[in-house]
Formats: sequence, C-alpha cells, structure tokens
Amino acid sequence: MSRAAPVERQRSPALRSASADAVAAAADVLRSGGLVAFATETVYGLGADATQDEAVAKIFQAKGRPHFNPLIVHVASLEEAGRYAEFSPEARALAAAFWPGPLTLVVPLRDDAGLSRLVTAGLRTVALRVPAHATALALLAAAGRPLAAPSANRSGRVSPTTARHVLADLADGIDLILDSGPCPAGIESTIVDAGARPPRLLRPGAIPRESIEAITGPLSTPCDHFQLVAPGMMKSHYAPRARLRLDAVCPQPGEAYLAFGPDAPAWPLSLNLSPAGDLEEAAANLYAHLRALDAQGASTIAVAPIPGKGLGEAINDRLRRAASPRSGTP
Ligand code: TXA
Ligand code: MG
Repeated sequence: MSRAAPVERQRSPALRSASADAVAAAADVLRSGGLVAFATETVYGLGADATQDEAVAKIFQAKGRPHFNPLIVHVASLEEAGRYAEFSPEARALAAAFWPGPLTLVVPLRDDAGLSRLVTAGLRTVALRVPAHATALALLAAAGRPLAAPSANRSGRVSPTTARHVLADLADGIDLILDSGPCPAGIESTIVDAGARPPRLLRPGAIPRESIEAITGPLSTPCDHFQLVAPGMMKSHYAPRARLRLDAVCPQPGEAYLAFGPDAPAWPLSLNLSPAGDLEEAAANLYAHLRALDAQGASTIAVAPIPGKGLGEAINDRLRRAASPRSGTP
C-alpha cells in the first residue's frame, strides 16, 4: 500500500478577498506566528505578531531584508501605542492630529514594551503608526496584537499597491494575502522622529511635510550621512528593473515614458501619473505605473518633472531612490 505523500510546504499563499471571515482567519494565522499581507491606506504590508520573535524573523526572511533595518509596528490606537513607547506632549499632539492615518512616529521604546527585539533592530526607539484602512484596523482588532508590517515587497523593490503586486513579489513564505483592492494613497507613510528637537522628517510620505509643520513648526531633515537613524532609507530603494531618467521633458527613442500633467507629449509606451496634474492621483498611481512600464521590458523609463511641493516631495524622493545606482542583482 502506498502511503500518503508527505505534506509539502505550501509555496503559494492563499489570496482571499478581505471579508469578515477572511479577516478572522488572518487573525488566527497571525496569532499562531504566520505572515499575512494586508492593505493599509498607503501600501500593502507584510504583517506578523510584533511580540513573537519567530514570526518577525519570517518577515526578514520573506523580504530578504537585512536585520539591521527595523520595522514599523501597527497598533489599533494611541492608547495601545502608549504601552510600547513614551509619548512626549509633541508626539501626542502629532498622533492626535494624524492617527488613524499615514504618519509613523519614531518614539522612545518602553523597557516593558514586550516587542520582539528584531522589530526594533536593537534600537532604543520604535516606529509606530495607527493605520486608517478598514482592513488593517479590522485585522488589528481581530488579532489583538501589535503587528510589525513593512511594505510587502522584496527588499529594495517597488512597494505593492495591489494584492497582485504582493503575489508577484513575495509568493514564498506568506500564509495569506487579504485582497482589499488598490491602496488609496499609494505611497508610504511619512516618518517623523518625534524625539528629535525639532522633530525630524525621516521619510517624506503620504502626509505632506507642510501639514505636519502646521503643528510642529519647521521639521529638520537628516542629511545623507545621518541615514543610520532611518536605516531603511538607503539610497537605492524602490527600484524597478529598468533604469530611470528623471526630469525628462521629452522621452527618447526606445524609452518608456512616465508622464505627468495635461501637456505630456504623445508617446507609444507611456503612462500618465495624473493627466490632470494632481499630486494625490500621481502618488496613488506611482508604483503601479512603474511596475506596468517595467513589465513592458524597456531598459529605461524616462520620468517627467514632478513639482516638489506637498505630496510631490515624497514622489520625488521615491523617484530619486529608484533612479540611484544599485548594487546586486537587477
Ligand atoms: O506606509 C508605510 O509606512 C508602510 C505600511 C505597510 O505601513 N510600511 C512601510 O514599512 O513602508 P517599511 O519597513 O517598508 O519602511 C519602514 C521604514 C524603514 O525605512 C525603517 O528603516 C524605518 O521605517 N524605521 C523603522 N523603525 C525605525 C526606528 N526605530 N528609527 C528610525 N527608522 C525606523
Ligand atoms: Mg518598504
């Protein structure tokens, strides 16, 4: 008699629409130490229970992420955040103004936080945020745990704004992907070091600098040699396969073109971030358009100039990083 074949490790994760049942199943996966990809208002995150070392280790493994690069911890409320970190009056004011929402605060870690040390990469600070997306909030409520969740892409690659992007990048090692459709903001959260005087903008993101400065006054910005304070902000990041040529008013023969605004030249291989010239629309489309043009196989994507104000700061930041020379595999 032949015996049943040994159960093979499942290579391809389940992709489920984010119904109440699927969220409940995802919460079980998380509590038992598995990985779940889920939508936030910014990009899809790859979540694990932030209190379990082994679960958090799986995130680094699945993404190919260096262990010195700490993770953002997603929590259900400011009150819960207070269990893991110290909030100065200024940090509290920022949280009150922008949570739930795409602001990540770097704040001093409490000694009794109980978070895995892998999450913070041994730092004495922790990056916390309360997401606004209904799926993320439902999952946090159902799991009842803080969720460590970096963007659900392979380390150094373009962040995912749909469940299909996650599947394309990271099929191996994830237990479940909750599909909630495209992420509304499409660009990562703004990260502020709330412990610095004045507070420091570590990563421009979905909340424009100007909105934060309306509360804090002028933010400082780290220079490149200070990058260890935001270890993930390496120069070459968010990279598609193709080379990027920035501030390109006219594409050249053979190039794909990432256009912006109503006056874009007609071009055969081209996508427009926002024909109306709207920066919110451009942010929402940025990663999906980069992926789509990349998939066409052009060796260079020429990118139209994008204004630098408001969300333009984050868009230009990601484009500059995507255009930086990179080492390693293409
Ligand atoms: O919108 C977002 O922020 C998404 C969604 C899923 O929430 N998450 C995200 O995570 O972009 P990730 O891991 O791709 O980027 C987090 C950044 C990294 O650059 C990391 O170095 C930085 O946050 N970071 C995390 N903890 C930190 C800390 N204690 N101090 C300074 N930077 C920190
Ligand atoms: Mg990321």
